Amino acid sequence: MRNSIISLLIIVCSSFVSGQDTLQLPPLLRFNDGSEVKSVRDWEKRRKEIRSIFENEVYGTAPVVPKNIKFRIVQEDKNALNGKATRRLVNLYLNKLSNPVELLIYYPNKPGRVPAFLGYNFWGNYTITNEKEVPLTSLWVPDREKETDNRAKETMRGIRTNRWPVEMIVDAGYALVTLYSGDIDPDYDDGFDNGVHAIYKKEKYTWGTIAAWSWGLRCVMSYLEKDDKINSEKVAVIGHSRLGKAALWAGATDERFALVISNNSGCGGAALSRRKQGETFTAINTRFPYWFCNNFKKYNDKEELLPVDQHQLIALMAPRPVYVASADKDAWADPEGEFMSALLAGDVYRLYGLKGVGQKTMPEVEVPLQNGHVAYHIRSGKHDITWYDWQQYILFANKRL
Ligand code: GCU
Repeated sequence: MRNSIISLLIIVCSSFVSGQDTLQLPPLLRFNDGSEVKSVRDWEKRRKEIRSIFENEVYGTAPVVPKNIKFRIVQEDKNALNGKATRRLVNLYLNKLSNPVELLIYYPNKPGRVPAFLGYNFWGNYTITNEKEVPLTSLWVPDREKETDNRAKETMRGIRTNRWPVEMIVDAGYALVTLYSGDIDPDYDDGFDNGVHAIYKKEKYTWGTIAAWSWGLRCVMSYLEKDDKINSEKVAVIGHSRLGKAALWAGATDERFALVISNNSGCGGAALSRRKQGETFTAINTRFPYWFCNNFKKYNDKEELLPVDQHQLIALMAPRPVYVASADKDAWADPEGEFMSALLAGDVYRLYGLKGVGQKTMPEVEVPLQNGHVAYHIRSGKHDITWYDWQQYILFANKRL
């Protein structure tokens, strides 16, 4: 199949945005057999083709998401954030996983079900808040200062409040649902003996850690459908960087997510691979050999042979709204490549009569493009998720959720 796809490569003229010559990208609107995708109905079939290539060649296959996930509310404080919010800790019990998956949820104190942002954190729930009641994780955590011995420490409480403007989110009428990515799969090369990989080991799924994290988000979504305070038809899945890659793949594989947000997700996320700007396949597969499936390693130094590129991943969200964001000092994530993916995905949105990003050239920093169903902004500054980014996501969610 690969050969037939390669022979169908179309030339997408990208010089107007990138100053590069031309890029040859696999087509969005042609089937693997070369015939044209002309309607939404055609696209619904084409989407399956594209999704299965990503599954087989990039992220790997994953088990189905369990339907009836057991859960328990283990803590509730109706007076969190000085009375603005209700904070709950909810434990999910996933099929033989030795640890419960611990959700930290802040709900605005207002009647009715509310829309929500759902996203992983990198270091544990207790790092996103200063509220002392949120417990430390007992699991392995990345060794941030080379002094924590891979264990959570009270001194790390609140170190990531800069990335999580909980009050802003709650004030805007949204719940925030977050969990530590290591609750699903620890972020190190463990031969897949830990986390959810271990419990499904016998079944020979090919998933890497990014796909495992995506699967975890989908399990949380199954829980949110039962949460008495959440409007599960209005859940935005969000992630920064590696967790942005996971958010995108979760959005692509699960249409229950009504909005998908990629913050600085870069290689294997929103950035076009064929540009080979910033992080390349060889770089990512060398440092993080466990993130993607084994097939993906075949494309080291051969980005142009992978039968998909990342504009097709963004297009898999259509017609649901999607937001791609970059930072101007984040060359490793290739901001232009992220913009181009968002721009090109617009072709599929147009089939639905919807607008894409709305302009062909990259906007100036801090001039967000939010009028279509594909939104984009580039912020000044480094690789990070900041309050500025969240302000934009909330504005877009207000419009599109
Ligand atoms: C590394 C990695 C990126 C990833 C980033 C992050 O820089 O190379 O692919 O996105 O970490 O998760 O912060």
